[in-house]
Amino acid sequence: MLSITGLGVTYGGLHALTGVTLEVGAGEFVTLVGPNGAGKTTLLKAISGTVAASEGRVAYQGRDVARLRASERAALGIAHVPEGRRVFPTLTVRENLELGSYRRAARRRRTESLATVLELFPILRERERQLAGSLSGGEQQMLALGRGLMAQPELLLLDEPSQGLGPRIVEQIFETIDRIRRERRLTILLVEQRVVEALELCDRGYVLETGRVVLDGGREGSTFTSSASRIREASRCGRACWRASHRPCRDCSARSSGGWPIASGAR
Ligand SMILES: Nc1ncnc2c1ncn2[C@@H]1O[C@H](COP(=O)(O)OP(=O)(O)OP(=O)(O)O)[C@@H](O)[C@H]1O
Ligand SMILES: [Mg+2]
Repeated sequence: MLSITGLGVTYGGLHALTGVTLEVGAGEFVTLVGPNGAGKTTLLKAISGTVAASEGRVAYQGRDVARLRASERAALGIAHVPEGRRVFPTLTVRENLELGSYRRAARRRRTESLATVLELFPILRERERQLAGSLSGGEQQMLALGRGLMAQPELLLLDEPSQGLGPRIVEQIFETIDRIRRERRLTILLVEQRVVEALELCDRGYVLETGRVVLDGGREGSTFTSSASRIREASRCGRACWRASHRPCRDCSARSSGGWPIASGAR
C-alpha cells in the first residue's frame, strides 16, 4: 500500500529525515515511535504532501506520489490526522466533520460516514452544534479522528492522538482506533509516544531517531514479536515510566546514558 524508499527531507539546511525506508502493507497497522524531534511528524507530512521530500520515493498503491500536491494525495485516499488536532475552532462539530468529506469518493457517502462517525464517538453527536474550539482536548481529538474518517480513506496517518490527554481518554481513543481498524480493515500508520500501548495494538513497529530508522519491526509476525519485545526490553522499565510521564524515568535515562532508552538500548 505504502512503500517509502530513501526518503530525505530538509528544512533550510537541516536534515530532518535521511534515507528513510519503510513499508506499510494493505490492511496493516504500523506504529512509528521515537523521541521528540526524531522526524516522526515530518515523515507523516512527507507522506501526505504537506512538506516536500528532497530525495527518495513515496509509492502509494504502486504509484510514486512524492511530487503530487497534498490535495491530490488526499484525493487518492490518504488522510492525515495532524499532531495537535487542528480542528477549525470557529466552525461547529458538524461543519468540521463535513469538511472531512470533500474528496469526491467521500462526498457521495457523506450521510453514511457521518452516521458511522457519530456512532463511533457518541459525544460528538451530543456536541454536533457546538463550536469545535469549545470542546475539551479529548473531544477535539475525537473530532479530528472523525474528520479523518469522513474522507473514507484507505490509508490513515495518525500523529500522536494521545498527546496531552488523560489516561482514560487515551484508552478510549486507542480502543476506537483498534475498532476502526478491525471493522474497516483500514491501513494505519500511527505515530505515538505511548510506546507500550501502541505496540500492543499494532502489527509492526519502526523506531525513528534523528531522522533515521534505527529499528525495524520486520515483516513476519514472529520477527515483529521479537522486535516488539526487544523494544520493550530496551525501554527497561517499560510500562510504568511511559504511562506516568511519556518519558523515560531517571533510572531508565541513567542506564541509557541520558539517551532515549528504546533506540539506544536496542542498537
Ligand atoms: N517547519 C520547520 N522548519 C524548520 N525545522 C523544522 C520544521 N518542522 C520541524 N523541524 C525540525 O525537524 C526536526 C524533526 O521535527 P518533527 O516535528 O518531525 O519531530 P517529531 O519526531 O514529530 O517530534 P515530536 O515528538 O516532538 O512531535 C526537529 O529538529 C524540528 O525542529
Ligand atoms: Mg511530532
